[in-house]
Amino acid sequence: MASPIQQTITRLISHYPWATSPLIVGAPMKVIAGPSLAIAVSSAGGLGFIGPGASPSDLESSLSLASQLISSSPSLSKFAQETGTLPIGVGFQTWAGDLRVATQVLEKFKPSAVWLFAPRHGQKELDEWSRKIREVSRGTKIWIQVPSVADAVAAAKSEERADVLVVQGADAGGHSRSKGAGIITLLPEVYDAVNDGVEPENQIPLIAAGGIIEQRGAGAAMVLGAAGVAMGTRFLASREATINRGYQRHIVDASDGGQNTVRTQLYNWLRGERNWPAGWDARGLVNESWRDHDKGVEFERNRELYAEAAKKGEGGWGERGRMATYAGTGVGLVRGVKGAGEIVSEVRDGIRKVISRASNEL
Ligand SMILES: Cc1cc2nc3c(=O)[nH]c(=O)nc-3n(C[C@H](O)[C@H](O)[C@H](O)COP(=O)(O)O)c2cc1C
Repeated sequence: MASPIQQTITRLISHYPWATSPLIVGAPMKVIAGPSLAIAVSSAGGLGFIGPGASPSDLESSLSLASQLISSSPSLSKFAQETGTLPIGVGFQTWAGDLRVATQVLEKFKPSAVWLFAPRHGQKELDEWSRKIREVSRGTKIWIQVPSVADAVAAAKSEERADVLVVQGADAGGHSRSKGAGIITLLPEVYDAVNDGVEPENQIPLIAAGGIIEQRGAGAAMVLGAAGVAMGTRFLASREATINRGYQRHIVDASDGGQNTVRTQLYNWLRGERNWPAGWDARGLVNESWRDHDKGVEFERNRELYAEAAKKGEGGWGERGRMATYAGTGVGLVRGVKGAGEIVSEVRDGIRKVISRASNEL
């Protein structure tokens, strides 16, 4: 008899039949996770998400390109032809999204999953997005990224109940709630709050995110009760990421992420993003912009220096650079740039090995 978690994992993977369990997910990083990265992750038997574009209107061209790229993979093409659904997901930051544009495009392209994140008005806003997306694309599963137990419970109990919860721990790169816990405590507490005592067929699959770079972290997350893992920072160092080479080099060079990354609003503001909902900030690598801010340099002066650095191309990035370099505390485990498919296979195959090794060693 399969355990409740095994049954949940089987149900999750059945929605993405090209994928292999345990599910490895490419997170929807704004601009950086474009069609090439998403398709490369799905082609390797994971589930790749396209992140928000620079503007909501970029979605149509991204999905159009993704539907062309599918032809490179027989299993993805077969799935798309048989179901009329794209074998990738799409991510939205709902506070900055345009629901009308989103639903028009989703009705046309029908991705397998939509990942909603960072509402300004809490669960009410997520419910509205979920309802309208389900109206135009019934086969699209709704994934909600949650940074806390309370948000997870709200998403699980709402009338537009999430199909999947992405449990984002405080180690994550990019944006999150300023107050947070690491997935080692957050994930089991969320599991107990939303799934404990619930019939296996009604349990919500949990995807762990935040600090997972390789098989050891991924294996640990599965032991905590995850049905799959999502990675952002790891895919920043993939060949298919839409990323400046200077940014990518800093990711590979950085170590000791707890010391060399910082959670702050500074990088949002330097990029001109002043409108993030209250209580959210972002984790990025420490560089000269942060050091100046920390020393008390006025924001306006810092912004001028940022604008100058932006003109330097690759030279504007790095430990001595100034550009906003969003990354998680796991950067020190990113040791080189690889193809996204290779990353997916390595982590997925490694999970079984590390769990079995740990179990034998006990
Ligand atoms: C550069 C960058 C951009 C991101 N952009 C988004 C985004 O637009 N929407 C979103 O839901 N999550 C975004 N995230 C967060 C990821 O979804 C995910 O939670 C996080 O990367 C997981 O932690 P990790 O970076 O340690 O793997 C971003 C992360 C990074 C590193």
